[in-house]
Amino acid sequence: MPLVTMKEILQKADQSNYGVGSFNVVNMETVIGVIKAAEETNSPIILQAAEARLRYSPLNLIGPIMVAAAQKAKVPVAVHFDHGSRPETIKQALDFGFTSVMFDGSGLSLEENAAKTIEVIRLAKRYGASVEAEIGRVGGSEDGLENIEMAITQVQDAKEFFERTEVDALAVAIGNVHGVYKSEPNLQFERLKGIDEVVAAPLVLHGGSGITVHDFRRCIQYGIKKINVQTATLNKVVERVRALCQQNEKLDYFTYHQCIINAACESAKGHIEAFQSNNQA
Ligand code: 13P
Repeated sequence: MPLVTMKEILQKADQSNYGVGSFNVVNMETVIGVIKAAEETNSPIILQAAEARLRYSPLNLIGPIMVAAAQKAKVPVAVHFDHGSRPETIKQALDFGFTSVMFDGSGLSLEENAAKTIEVIRLAKRYGASVEAEIGRVGGSEDGLENIEMAITQVQDAKEFFERTEVDALAVAIGNVHGVYKSEPNLQFERLKGIDEVVAAPLVLHGGSGITVHDFRRCIQYGIKKINVQTATLNKVVERVRALCQQNEKLDYFTYHQCIINAACESAKGHIEAFQSNNQA
């Protein structure tokens, strides 16, 4: 199955009304685990690496691993650059063969965000790649180092931004935050419905860790088709590795290696089933 674009994957999800998991990966084991989950559930997926995590997983190493794994996968896989802010890094990801990039201009004015998104769309077009942008601002932060204040997406802003850019996928802030939710997520479904009515592109939900299956499905019903998940995967890996270490005084490296793969796979599978993308490859 070829490496595909995000646009292609999300168009199908839109037609059949399911969500696609966009799983952040940080090393070879998490790449293998997430792809294993997709293959075992026969689901399309998106593999993504975030700009803020490149200090741990350099793009010149993690990028080619992601692309090579996607090319060999038995299900459609898009390879996406998450929360890109620097044009030169976005270009590097495209040069490595990523089929999709996000330009995150959520901290800019609508005008500046739209203008820079349009530049990234022009660049991505040369590679045949898709583009995601963000309007409003998802709270928390990608690497947990900042506590960015959430700015709820205004329906009128989403409409205007989409009319200007015609971006392939649009991330919204409807009460979702990156990282661990401090209290029960309280998503604004009526607002999401309003955004969906005025934006023709599939919508994206960041901060997918900790949302209930019921809420995921309501989001999907109201236009969310790409759901980003990072914290849940990494926390599951830590939990399983900790238990493994506690149970085995003498641990060999490859048991540990397999434990990471299995934990990433287990977490991704649970999300794939919640999003109902299983058997949609
Ligand atoms: P979580 O870490 O909260 O799952 O969010 C992931 C994300 O939105 C990546 O862009």
